[in-house]
Amino acid sequence: MDEKLALARRFGTPLYVFDGRVLKKRMETLRAALPSNVELCYAVKANTFIIDLLAGDVARFEACSEGEARICLEKDSRPGVLVVSGVNKDAAYMEELIAAETPVSRYTIESRLQFDMLLGLARKHDKRIPLLLRLTSGNQLGLDKSEVCTIIAEFADDPHLDIWGIQYFSGTQKTSVKRLARELRTCRKMIDRLAQDYGFTCREVEFGPGFPVPYFDDEEFDEPAFFAEFAALLDEFAFEGPISLELGRSIAASCGIFFTSVVDVKRNDGQNYAIVDGGMNHLVYYGQSLAMRQPTCALLREEGVPAGELDSFNICGSLCSINDILAKQLELPGLFMGDVLRFDNTGAYCMTEGISLFLSRDLPRVCLIDADGEARLVRDLEPTWQLNESK
Ligand SMILES: Cc1ncc(COP(=O)(O)O)c(C=O)c1O
Repeated sequence: MDEKLALARRFGTPLYVFDGRVLKKRMETLRAALPSNVELCYAVKANTFIIDLLAGDVARFEACSEGEARICLEKDSRPGVLVVSGVNKDAAYMEELIAAETPVSRYTIESRLQFDMLLGLARKHDKRIPLLLRLTSGNQLGLDKSEVCTIIAEFADDPHLDIWGIQYFSGTQKTSVKRLARELRTCRKMIDRLAQDYGFTCREVEFGPGFPVPYFDDEEFDEPAFFAEFAALLDEFAFEGPISLELGRSIAASCGIFFTSVVDVKRNDGQNYAIVDGGMNHLVYYGQSLAMRQPTCALLREEGVPAGELDSFNICGSLCSINDILAKQLELPGLFMGDVLRFDNTGAYCMTEGISLFLSRDLPRVCLIDADGEARLVRDLEPTWQLNESK
């Protein structure tokens, strides 16, 4: 039996499988494509299940909430690994981290209020904390240039602070090298201004390039050429210190497969419909709406099952919503109850960006495959109905 179908049969669907072997190869590809002064930082919001599988292959994990930070610390509490990032940093949790001398690699600063809060906590506990100032890309995130300058002017030498440099992230799925070039120029100007006007040396830049992942059959993306152009930009950027590249989607997407089974098949007004046990609550492809574009998807069926007649099927999820369409007019050799469909490139964001509580359906199972090919269930079906019930 097909190895993947065997997993779906063994563990049951709906099921995510995150394959450590694919992840390892992906990390090798990324490493080979990027200059040697680049360190990789994994933005765990893309997929917290693969943190274990990535240990040793990335320098840091970036967490944007208390929940993410707690997961990271449970998985990998080595010094210098965790970046505590994000807006709305909880003061009580920050105090817990600082007071306990949790070996945080960097705290990022998203606002003046956050800065004052963290400085106050560092002074209260007489600790020196490592910071990165996040430069805004023109939205609610980060600090604007004048605020960065003010902080550096007043606090660069504060004994309770160790300000390493700047962080910059403007968005995901960026295919334009020109845009990345502009963003790196923005960072360069800031670094130069801090040096010239305040004598401040940026020792580190943490940059989120938002590398794209092609999800749909109609997408053409020459990734090696794109990476080569980006590597040239980093050379031009000419930064002496380490560049920490914050990546989520580009690291995680390819290692994930989502499996869903056919639970009903029917014909309405001349159209074939299959209802599956997954849905748009489990499958989130950036740029997808109403299955207007075709994601990579395939039918898995045991050998020996007689093929049906070639026909086209609309694959619909279990959310009782006409919007819950996963694929339209998929050409298949019949579609039978219990058939399994696999959707590829589902390792990033799918299991967290979906509308998981709608209809009080269970969360899918999650299976990890380690580097030796060993598969194990790390989350069983998780009921959600209690969360939607008044207590
Ligand atoms: C600060 C920060 N860094 C990195 C990322 C990861 O982005 P991507 O998944 O596009 O690599 C995000 C995603 O929202 C982010 O907010």
